[in-house]
Amino acid sequence: MLWSLCLLLAAGALGAPLSKARPKLLLISFDGFRWDYDRDVDTPNLDQMARDGVKAAYVTPPYITITSPAHFTLLTGRYVENHGVVHNMWFNTATGQKKPYYQTLHEGEWWDTGTLPIWITAQRQGLKAGSLHFPGTAVSYQGEVPFRQEQEPPLHNYQNETIWQQKTDKVMGWFRHDDLDFVSLYFGEPDSTGHLYGPDSPQRRQMVAQVDRAVGYIRQSARRHGLSDLLNIIITADHGMSTVHRRGTVEEIILAKIPGFSFQDVSFHLVDYGPAGMLLPKPGKLETVYAALKGAHPHLHVYRKEELPQRLRFSNHPRILPIVLFADPGYLINGYFPVQINRGEHGFDNQEMDMKPFFRAVGPAFRQNLEVGPFETVNIYPLMCHILGIQPEVNDGHLDATRDMLVSRGARASLSSGETVNYQHNAFVGLSAVAGFLLVVFVVLVLQKILLKKKRRESSRNVPEDKQTGF
Ligand SMILES: *[C@@H]1O[C@H](CO)[C@@H](O)[C@H](O)[C@H]1NC(C)=O
Ligand SMILES: [Zn+2]
Repeated sequence: MLWSLCLLLAAGALGAPLSKARPKLLLISFDGFRWDYDRDVDTPNLDQMARDGVKAAYVTPPYITITSPAHFTLLTGRYVENHGVVHNMWFNTATGQKKPYYQTLHEGEWWDTGTLPIWITAQRQGLKAGSLHFPGTAVSYQGEVPFRQEQEPPLHNYQNETIWQQKTDKVMGWFRHDDLDFVSLYFGEPDSTGHLYGPDSPQRRQMVAQVDRAVGYIRQSARRHGLSDLLNIIITADHGMSTVHRRGTVEEIILAKIPGFSFQDVSFHLVDYGPAGMLLPKPGKLETVYAALKGAHPHLHVYRKEELPQRLRFSNHPRILPIVLFADPGYLINGYFPVQINRGEHGFDNQEMDMKPFFRAVGPAFRQNLEVGPFETVNIYPLMCHILGIQPEVNDGHLDATRDMLVSRGARASLSSGETVNYQHNAFVGLSAVAGFLLVVFVVLVLQKILLKKKRRESSRNVPEDKQTGF
């Protein structure tokens, strides 16, 4: 009886706090936050976060460097050709139909391609996930959705700082009151301001200062909700931003003006969308279209889909059209005439430094005051799975790219990251249980000895032993 009591005490005392201490993770994207945006703005909160956690020099997004494809890479760890969300716009080459960005966020067929975002994988392994405004949130995946799921309404004000604070408090409430394990949270800035005024504008710098205040608010809100010891926070973005050359100062790329090229030879096209484009030539016209465009402009790159440089990982998907175009930084691809008015753009080659986003992380899983080298954003997914202790789906990233930033770097074996976590977790639980058990046994033995001495002294009284120990 004494020993079973000891076991019960050990299990009870150690079991409760351990299960409560399951790590939580918040993934935040500030759309279009370029890696170097903190260099010309005072950012006390981002600086504090770097001292308290990890800062990467920069990260490399997948190609194509636009919002929905790059966010789906964050959620899945797959390159764009492997997850299939190849554009911000849903399109159908048979009917010629296209749907704009916001409408495409609600187009289930566009997102539910067989690659599972981390919310669904986490929930299938017993965790609870949520997502607020993160691209990909509005639809279901194989019939499943995150436990908490909100997409912003149309005409949402992406700039309003009060709304940013309300979003932050809502997410912290999900962690605190609904006991969510993972949440992804999206802010539409500084992308909009970068597009409108350009990345070198004072307006962009002001918006970065607002992002910095938001980072301070996020960490303060986590403390207010009692989450500091449990919550890991990763802050990153989908792509950077590059200044567009002013109209009239350079020779613009206008496809209709290129000799030998005719839109008559094309049955479907996606152009007038920043520096990237795709064309579906009519039957028998592929070589004509290709030959006309190739070399037609010194800043226009033209590829047959299968000839695209392998490093771009943007060939091997049926949604990618037979001819892929992209322009050098500063240039846009126009169809019939220039209609694009943005002073800043993204969508360029992911090798360009202007396309690289920032990366920061803080929380109990992360080392402090550590600056790490650059890595590809496909590696954020296995890192997140490792922190959450879940088995990742097949993906293009690897924990080795980010392992050094972790407090507990895990077993360097051929184990996959999920197994590493389970091994560590089990070892920790095991050791804690043994230590706790030994402590309880020690206390019980000491008490028993004291009581026995006492009993010997009070030899005149005759009390049954089990009553003495039944405290
Ligand atoms: C920002 O949002 C808050 C809360 O919805 C609202 O009260 C306020 O008027 C908004 N401010 C601006 C400048 O739109
Ligand atoms: Zn974006």
